[in-house]
Parts: sequence; C-alpha cells; structure tokens
Amino acid sequence: MIRVGVAGAAGRMGATTCAAIEAAEDLTLAARVDPALGTTLDDVLGDVDVVVDFTRPDTALANARACVQAGVHCVVGTSGWDVGALEGEPGAGKVLFCPNFAIGAVLMMRFAAEASEHMAAAEIVELHHDGKLDKPSGTAARTAALMRGDVPIHSVRLPGLVAHQEVILGGLGETLTIRHDSLSRESFMPGVLLAVRRVAQIERSPLVGLEHVL
Ligand SMILES: NC(=O)c1ccc[n+]([C@@H]2O[C@H](COP(=O)([O-])OP(=O)(O)OC[C@H]3O[C@@H](n4cnc5c(N)ncnc54)[C@H](O)[C@@H]3O)[C@@H](O)[C@H]2O)c1
Repeated sequence: MIRVGVAGAAGRMGATTCAAIEAAEDLTLAARVDPALGTTLDDVLGDVDVVVDFTRPDTALANARACVQAGVHCVVGTSGWDVGALEGEPGAGKVLFCPNFAIGAVLMMRFAAEASEHMAAAEIVELHHDGKLDKPSGTAARTAALMRGDVPIHSVRLPGLVAHQEVILGGLGETLTIRHDSLSRESFMPGVLLAVRRVAQIERSPLVGLEHVL
C-alpha cells in the first residue's frame, strides 16, 4: 500500500484525485491537505509516502521542497511555477512534475514535436475554464518547448471549458491541426495514479512529463 497525501484536497483537481485514490486498491488516502480544511503539509509529511500537489502556482515550489527534504516523493500537477528551482535540492524525496496527466495530451505533445520538424511554422491555442489562474497553460508552455522554432501561444479563458488545446501547423498551401480535449477532470486520473505508483522509481529528480513513467 502506498500512503498518499493530496495537497489542494478541497479544490477541483484535488477532490477528484482524492476520490480516485480512495477507489484504487493499492493506494491509501492518508491525508487531505488544504487551508480550506484546516490542514497543513507539515502536519502530515510523517504519515505519507507520496504527495500529489494540485494547489496554486505560488505554493507548489514550497510544497515540493518540503516533500523532498522530508524524504517524501511528490507528484506535481500544479502549473505556473519554476520546477528548475528544485535542481540540486538536498533530500531523498523525488519530484515528478506533469504539466498534463491526460494520456491524449501527452500524445498530442509528442505528435506536435514531430510535426514541427516538417512544417514551416506553428502556433498554439489553449482554452481553459475561467477559474484557471495562470496563462499560458503548463501544457502549452511544455508543448512549445518540445517543438522546433518559436511557437506563439494564445490563451482563451471561458466558463464551460475544461482543458483544451490546438496545435496548428502551417506549410505551403496546407495546415495540420492537432487537437486534444479534456472533457472532464476524470481524464487526468489514470495518469495521476500511474505517476503516484512510479515516482519512487524515477532515475532523476526533478523530472518533467508523464512520458517518463508511461
Ligand atoms: N497537470 C494537469 O494535468 C492539470 C490538470 C488540471 C489542472 N491543473 C492545475 O492544477 C492546479 C489546481 O487546479 P484546480 O482547478 O484544482 O484549482 P482550485 O483552485 O480548484 O484548487 C486549489 C486548492 O489548493 C488549495 N491550496 C492553496 N494553497 C495551498 C497549500 N499551501 N497547501 C495545500 N493546498 C493549498 C486551495 O485552498 C484550493 O482548495 C492549477 O495549477 C491547475 O492549472 C493541472
């Protein structure tokens, strides 16, 4: 049994993650951490093997740092923070940051990287619900980083959306569009559970991308 703590447990992603962990036979939901629940990470680090972080851009780094130092592995889904600041951080906990846990989104990023080698130019349109704090999305930033050339990103924030992205590539007389849609937050859960099960085995830390454990 892997004992899992969820940081941001009262939020949209955190609550969905708590339900997925409770439903998994090989995982135990050992802690729900959230200021909205009156709990702090420091209170629970002695009781968990892995923390899943779905909090805010301004808290993810401090949370990951506390995990590393306590020897607790950390799976981070929060976007809009600097994972590079964890390079060389002393401590036994490993960090896996996944800008997107949806399997289809990981494939979209891979296909976009490949397509950019063959098309003249590309732009990204990312569309999210209006409660999302950061822009551009972590997925769009990661996609652009994996692609050849300078890839502009356009951000749309509207009620009704969940998480969507189009990568549009242009060439002589043709375009290619690669689109991914997360239609519900459940779309992220297979990837979250996979990352929780595999984070202890990653060879380097911090690592970015679910593809490292697929
Ligand atoms: N990687 C992915 O696949 C993926 C998918 C969806 C969303 N996200 C990202 O996940 C993050 C959370 O999204 P959301 O929609 O659930 O946000 P949300 O606002 O619904 O939830 C965030 C929760 O974090 C809590 N929180 C704030 N500070 C905290 C702290 N120090 N410790 C513990 N909890 C704290 C808040 O009280 C809140 O309940 C965002 O950055 C979002 O972009 C990532």
